[in-house]
Amino acid sequence: MSTGLFRKKNINSILAEGSDNVHGGGLKRVLTVKDLTFFGIAAILGAGSFSSLGGAVFNGGPGVIVLFIITGIACAFTAFCYSDFASRIPVAGSAYTYAYASFGELFAWIIGWALIMEYSIGNIYVAYSWSDYFTSFMERMNVHIPAYLSTSYMEAKHGIESGSTNKDVIAAWKNAPVLIGLKIILDLPALIINFLITYLVYRGIKESRNFSNLMVILKLGVVFLIIIVGGYLVLSNGLTSNWLPQNDAGVKSFMPNGFSGVMAAVAGVFFAYIGFDAVSVLAEESKDPQRDLPKGMIYSLVICTVIYILLTMVLSGAVNYKNFEGVGDPLAFIFEPQNLNIGWMQLLVSICAVVAMTSVLLVFQMGQPRIWMSMSRDGLLPPVFQKIHSKFQTPSFATIVTGFVVGVPILFTDKTFVLDFTSIATLFAFVLVCGGVLLLPTKEKEPGKFHLPFISSRIFFPTLIIGSMIIIQFFAKNYFSDLFNLNGDSANLTFNISSLIFWLSCIILSIVTLFKNWSLIPLLGLVTCLYLLTGMTAMNWAWFGGWLVLGLVVYFMYGYKKSKLA
Ligand code: ALA
Repeated sequence: MSTGLFRKKNINSILAEGSDNVHGGGLKRVLTVKDLTFFGIAAILGAGSFSSLGGAVFNGGPGVIVLFIITGIACAFTAFCYSDFASRIPVAGSAYTYAYASFGELFAWIIGWALIMEYSIGNIYVAYSWSDYFTSFMERMNVHIPAYLSTSYMEAKHGIESGSTNKDVIAAWKNAPVLIGLKIILDLPALIINFLITYLVYRGIKESRNFSNLMVILKLGVVFLIIIVGGYLVLSNGLTSNWLPQNDAGVKSFMPNGFSGVMAAVAGVFFAYIGFDAVSVLAEESKDPQRDLPKGMIYSLVICTVIYILLTMVLSGAVNYKNFEGVGDPLAFIFEPQNLNIGWMQLLVSICAVVAMTSVLLVFQMGQPRIWMSMSRDGLLPPVFQKIHSKFQTPSFATIVTGFVVGVPILFTDKTFVLDFTSIATLFAFVLVCGGVLLLPTKEKEPGKFHLPFISSRIFFPTLIIGSMIIIQFFAKNYFSDLFNLNGDSANLTFNISSLIFWLSCIILSIVTLFKNWSLIPLLGLVTCLYLLTGMTAMNWAWFGGWLVLGLVVYFMYGYKKSKLA
């Protein structure tokens, strides 16, 4: 049984399967390094910066910049791991395929299952955010979309139950028509954009690529404009004192709610980074995947990290962090009359947000079918998922199913839920990718291909962990003793337990690397991603755990028996 669960795919057979020869009518190889970088930016810059950034600044104050840096570093290490895998296994499937080669089938399935969260459920959040900006843009154009047709049912219901003062939520609940005792409240723009994107992806990669590149150029232009105009006004209006705001206790601090306030923003901040890894699913559509995929991933990640740091500085400088409570369009909000007061920027940002999020939707909607295609090739999903459209040469059935997997929950979920769910599952997948690279044998350097430099961790890593523990103990004397306090409220308890597991893992990894001498980059990727997981709440863990159990049931009922390796 255990051999069955951990049966691994041979890298050479994965490569052979991914080649166009084996699967007649394979995908078109049209993408260059520039296209891949653009795809990365298309996937990264979206709802995270245009929507969830406001909540992150509200929780963490200007200090959320620190979290962006930590998360950027974690993602950079992970991008190196993805690049290493992508240069060894240049076929579609992303982390799923990589896990199959390193951890074996069960982990590959788990990762493929977790990636549904990243690609499909993440797109639900983006579709909701798209709808928010689209609705407010239409409002500026004097076209009013009723709140009950632009709010999700769950958001309205939860809002009313918790006594929200949000006017859209109240209007949606109050004015909704009732059919057979049920209030008709749904996010129609989110459903429509999902339908349009699914259609575009179904039609083919070439059209999608051109469309996506154009949108990326537009959104980069406007993001830079926000940074330049906003930054200039922060400096010239003498608003830099907002970078050291006063908290409720009257203390001036870069982190007004302490480091725990910063960590409370982890799901939103991490969500903003998701996307660089999506580049790896385009392996079979790239001209030279071994050379270009790593470049595309790393270039897009670096560009977006710099943008995030600058954007957060502008945002937290332009307006006091407390004013971002419940603000869903923070980048337009800073230009409102009571803030920086530039009307044309407000309008431009709304248009740009719609464009930015459209490109994110496109990239993820393209990614999901390609992962399912790989899983189907391995026998873990029914053969119909690898069906390639004879005319458009796209994975047609899988694309339509993705449309439903994104579209149907739009009717039954809300933003917070899908944001948390996506972030925890993606972090989990990143942990497995970094762990997977640790287990792969080092490969010879080949000219023209990405090579992950081997840096010994034997001395450095244990020193780093012990050094960090000593420094923390020195500056925050109660940090470690507090972790053993298991009597606090649920949030504290979850933080304490996950932090204890984190530090224990660091100690175990330090001991093992003394013997195994692991490569430093994937080891640091693993540890930084584990660290970000300590910011997740008990509820996130419970839902994610349930999702994994459901995945295991599906695996044992179908994939375990039908696997090509069975
Ligand atoms: N990083 C992507 C976004 O922010 C998912 O929309």
